[in-house]
Amino acid sequence: MAETELPITGYLDRFSHRPGEAFTAFVSVRDGGRYRARLVRVLSGDPNPAGPGLRFEDLAHRFDQSFAGRRQPIHRGSYGRVTAGPVRDTKACTWTVLVRPGVVDAEQTLLADEAGDASIVLLIGADGASARITCAGSTVEIATGTKLRAACWYRVWLAVDPTSGHALIGQQSLDGAPVTAETSGRALVLPSRGTVLFAAEHASAPRRHFTGKLEDPAILRGFVAAWPAVGATLDALPGDLLAGWDFSRGIDTQMVHDIGPHACHGQLINVPTRAMVGARWTGREQCWRHAPGDYGAIHFHADDLADCGWQADFTWSVPDDLRSGAYALHLTCDAGEDWLPLYVLPKRQGPHAPIAFLASTFTYQAYANHERSRIDDGYYERVAEWGAYPYNPYDYPIYGRSTYNRHADGSGISFSSRLRPILTMRPGFLTFCDKNGSGMRHYPADLHLLAWLEAKGFEFDIVTDEDLDDEGVALIAPYRTVLTGSHPEYHTLGTLDALAGHTGQGGRLCYLGGNGFYWRVARDKAAPHLIELRRAEGGIRAWAAEPGEYYHQSDGQLGGLWRRNRRPPQMLAGVGFSCQATFEGTYYRRLPPSYDPRFAWMFAGIAEDVLGDYGLSGGGAAGFELDRADPALGTPHEAVILARSENPLPSFLTVPEELLTNQISINGEKIEDLSRGEIVYFDTPSGGAVFSVGSITFCGSLWRNGFEGPISRLLENVVRRFAAG
Ligand SMILES: [Fe+2]
Repeated sequence: MAETELPITGYLDRFSHRPGEAFTAFVSVRDGGRYRARLVRVLSGDPNPAGPGLRFEDLAHRFDQSFAGRRQPIHRGSYGRVTAGPVRDTKACTWTVLVRPGVVDAEQTLLADEAGDASIVLLIGADGASARITCAGSTVEIATGTKLRAACWYRVWLAVDPTSGHALIGQQSLDGAPVTAETSGRALVLPSRGTVLFAAEHASAPRRHFTGKLEDPAILRGFVAAWPAVGATLDALPGDLLAGWDFSRGIDTQMVHDIGPHACHGQLINVPTRAMVGARWTGREQCWRHAPGDYGAIHFHADDLADCGWQADFTWSVPDDLRSGAYALHLTCDAGEDWLPLYVLPKRQGPHAPIAFLASTFTYQAYANHERSRIDDGYYERVAEWGAYPYNPYDYPIYGRSTYNRHADGSGISFSSRLRPILTMRPGFLTFCDKNGSGMRHYPADLHLLAWLEAKGFEFDIVTDEDLDDEGVALIAPYRTVLTGSHPEYHTLGTLDALAGHTGQGGRLCYLGGNGFYWRVARDKAAPHLIELRRAEGGIRAWAAEPGEYYHQSDGQLGGLWRRNRRPPQMLAGVGFSCQATFEGTYYRRLPPSYDPRFAWMFAGIAEDVLGDYGLSGGGAAGFELDRADPALGTPHEAVILARSENPLPSFLTVPEELLTNQISINGEKIEDLSRGEIVYFDTPSGGAVFSVGSITFCGSLWRNGFEGPISRLLENVVRRFAAG
């Protein structure tokens, strides 16, 4: 195969399991041949020669096997499939659908009806709406010849009289006149009880995927040449409805419902986006649950990927005595290697360590295969020089993109799956060619913290966002303290409730990142491998959800920022997002309250007033994304600001959700003064406590010539106290 695929890669059924449970591995070997899979514990993920290194503990004695490999294909592109369409007589028939194209130049299939050697395919492309009518080995093609405009609603239809061979293709915009073309010739045989596809054709190997919205696909008895208003509902269409698929039904499912007499229901594949405003949306409602009829569109994308669907290669049962921690299955074949990261939880009944690290797997998943529009100069040279993870998603679109990317029509990617290779979630993966440090984010950046915990001799367990969402506060109740990673940005109501429950019943929390607890994501328990995200209304956004499309299809709840959903990050952590920069950092300076004898334990051994003017992430502990306290947003009155970032760099800018106008901030402070991060501490009424650092780059500064320096000392003091009885 071309080098559009890794030599060897794969994914696991879940990111985490407990002892006694089994991981299932799905592996693809590009060129075939044997491969080896062996267990390693991931000790450190930073290949920077000036840092803690890329280090693994070989656990081959636990698991080390060789297997026959095979290439496993990936089929991107969402579509709908009805296994058996309506039975038809030999009379005239019309296929129609409302379409809002996202991309108009490429030839893409809107609807296909395929039965044996007879098929009808309705398409759009450079020639506008077109159709291919195939029977008995020959094909009639017909096109309107007028290109559609992107992002405008049209009705497209094909009417065929099989007896005369007369066919008519038409397209009509919401406010325009119909454009049609006709042909006639020999008698035709039309498909009956065929497989009907939406947004693709060729049921046995779907192709020519469509990017854009479809609504109300239907098959009508009769030769329909004129239509009511474009927005007419399925039951108001002329002709008898043989089948009509109402996409406003079952929005929170992957089913499509036929309201016609034969109930030819179907399935969606690769999770296109639902709860999308259709041609009839008036603006009277913003939530699809309140007016489902306004939300009759499905947005299909040629690059959607919900699940690679590979064959399972092997399973590995977690041994009963394996400690909780970060591990990986190291895969090697003749042409290369890869790592499949995994976490082992402690046994449900314990014993538990006093500390739990909460791996930000929802955030890792939101950023999975984030393609940056530009790779920094020198990136690949550094990767080679340092022996960093060699593959970048920029070069491998086949594994699907992240929720930071867009589809071909500019619409945002709102689903991310973990059932696919995730190149950004690998030990040694560099995000940036950081001139001041290692340039790591997310999974590998959080290994700074794990390596530090190990070096300091702390006993810790690991749990993940997904476990916390599934199991609630009971999962973390055994722990004296929970530690987050550098960027716990994406949360469900379940994970926020669990963390608030923990601090509310005497637990302690170290929030060791920036821009945390920021976006709301939704999950569907029927598809636990997916997270859904709507980038609604405001915030620092990679794209914007369209008006009317702010409510998740998975749970019907308003998406967007938690600060607009009753749960600003300050309520849980004392600080919340305030400043966005490029990947660079400065330092904190201690404030007078930090010298209060009450906090002597926290600053024991720290002579410095300046904290973290060094580090492996952006060169400083206060950088990239910074959070500050704000009582108006929920910072508890007891919270003390111990240190504040200083000397902001030119790239440090206040986030837009803090602004009323370009000159006025919401809380009345000068806009530039909000470009700061703060270290905050507070006790909770139940005897719990929260320590928050408000910076993504903080954990990068745990390292200085080994794990020493005031940042390491500060955190060590806090974690020792929090982990004590
Ligand atoms: Fe982020």
